[in-house]
Amino acid sequence: MSTLATTDEHISATRAKTIQPVWVRVMHWTNAVAMILMIMSGWQIYNASPLFDFRFSHDITLGGWLGGALLWHFAAMWLLMINGLAYLIAGFVSGRFRKKLLPITPAGVLHDVRAALTFKLSHDDLSVYNYVQRTLYAGIIVVGVLIVLSGLSIWKPVQLYYLVALFGDYPTARYVHFFCMAAICAFLVVHVALALLVPKSLRAMIIGR
Ligand code: HEM
Repeated sequence: MSTLATTDEHISATRAKTIQPVWVRVMHWTNAVAMILMIMSGWQIYNASPLFDFRFSHDITLGGWLGGALLWHFAAMWLLMINGLAYLIAGFVSGRFRKKLLPITPAGVLHDVRAALTFKLSHDDLSVYNYVQRTLYAGIIVVGVLIVLSGLSIWKPVQLYYLVALFGDYPTARYVHFFCMAAICAFLVVHVALALLVPKSLRAMIIGR
């Protein structure tokens, strides 16, 4: 009886400490790999027909040339779309998005931005996202949806003409796709820096606890 009680206590203590469930971890890292492949091959594709007065250095692109980069981009696209869709469905159905990312209030965001800038933001309870994290994560999920929709528009503009119409026209969809990429890169810089500043959050995203 006492062994059973101890085992039960042990199981519930382990459960209580699980911060990132296994599905979140698997999908998060799959998404990170897919995003990085898409961004690096996307830079090579951009270089073939730049929108602005600059090109990305060949050293940080993937694919070697336009044809190779397109192969990488379309291969990683399936990984990103299937994994992203599964994450969105699981996030809504399990109630995770509602519980972890909401509410987001202007007062809460302002308070936590101030606290972060003065290094007073608490990281004691990793199971609750602060308002800065909530805003960044909810924002990047929206950007993730936008980059996929604008990408689909410029990939199959004839078949998916209604998606192109959603963005206005083809050139606008291309600009939206580019600026979503820029937003994801900016997010990544802040996100990775914060993960390194609070290493226990990185550990939780790797081993769950
Ligand atoms: C490759 C480098 C990356 C690292 C080191 C990293 C690290 C982390 C860590 C440690 C967390 C835990 C949350 C926390 O306690 O703050 C997290 C959550 C999250 N990350 Fe990343 N991440 C990376 C890439 C990405 C990318 C590319 C995206 C999307 C574009 C992304 C989107 C998210 C989201 C949405 C969450 C919240 C997940 C949830 O709670 O459902 N991450 N990340």
